[in-house]
Amino acid sequence: MIYLDSAATSLLKPPSVVRATAMAMRTMASPGRGGHGAAMRAADTVFACREAAAELFHVPEPERVVFTMNATHALNIAIYSLVSPGDPVVISGYEHNSVTRPLHALGAQVRVAESPLFEPETAVGAFRRALPGAKAAVCTMVSNVFGYLLPVREIAELCAAAGVPLIVDASQAAGCVAFDAAALGAAFVAMPGHKGLLGPQGTGILLCFAQPKPLLCGGTGSQSVLQDMPEELPDRLEAGTHNVPGIAGLLAGIRYLSAQGVENIERRERRLAQRLTAQMRAEPRLEVFAAPDPACQTAVLSVRCRDMDSELLAQKLARYGIAVRAGLHCAPVAHRSAGTLETGTVRLSLSPFNTDAEIARTARVFHEILRAG
Ligand code: ALA
Repeated sequence: MIYLDSAATSLLKPPSVVRATAMAMRTMASPGRGGHGAAMRAADTVFACREAAAELFHVPEPERVVFTMNATHALNIAIYSLVSPGDPVVISGYEHNSVTRPLHALGAQVRVAESPLFEPETAVGAFRRALPGAKAAVCTMVSNVFGYLLPVREIAELCAAAGVPLIVDASQAAGCVAFDAAALGAAFVAMPGHKGLLGPQGTGILLCFAQPKPLLCGGTGSQSVLQDMPEELPDRLEAGTHNVPGIAGLLAGIRYLSAQGVENIERRERRLAQRLTAQMRAEPRLEVFAAPDPACQTAVLSVRCRDMDSELLAQKLARYGIAVRAGLHCAPVAHRSAGTLETGTVRLSLSPFNTDAEIARTARVFHEILRAG
């Protein structure tokens, strides 16, 4: 199989991730739940993962790295910490349902800072106009549908100047694009562990630079007499038993990325994506959504066929052993902004393990499918 669905989850993991996950299941208990060897091994591993993530994202205190079950969980904590019913909240035109559904459930007054695809300056202007009076803002760093790298640093500066706390959704950026989370000045940065960070599913991270409200209450292995959740991070947000095998695998994934260098992975993935873009653009029946300025484009590409349903095209690709995701990718707002809400797109998303040969084969398969009708 040629796996081009890493924006959904990175299926291809370094072997060290699989080994670490299995080893944790065999040898680790629960952090903070005992002084015996198995509990201490778990505590050491969970702390080592906090430290590794803090280093990767330039967070000065590892305690600010909170483990969650996925990015959606992390975003929900961030949103429920900052937003109350009826609050005006500004979001980019490229947000995922993991942002828009919690805001809808809260009854927030959502202002979409609308801007066309791959127009970062327009996006900054839209935020500038929408921010006055907002209670919070949410911006994805990279669109999960189009790989569009939004001007999040400029948007963060606008939010800071306007005194509006910002939540950054780094779901499609973490592990794929090098960034300094602390320097952004955001209140919260949320990310999954199972995409670019190469960890197992069921892992996520919330970087907390503001005081959060717990979404779940329960045991933390600390201050047990106290019936309020502890004030201190990470315990304030980590109620219940940790996903220790997942966190052990995530630690191995982060160590792999640190050894390779995220900048190197980013450069390689972008080169492959540009090759694929050029080859798909040679197909007259395909509409390829790729940024005119390569600086705005990561290794997630969307295409659609002018006369074939996106789901059907994805099914045909699957018959050739090419795994992609078609449809709306849980991001109708992004598709509305790009003008693809009616048709959806076929999304091809790369990982550090894709090769030149796979890109060449994918281009040939597109050619065969489109020639055959
Ligand atoms: N949000 C993930 C995707 O884009 C699951 O497919």
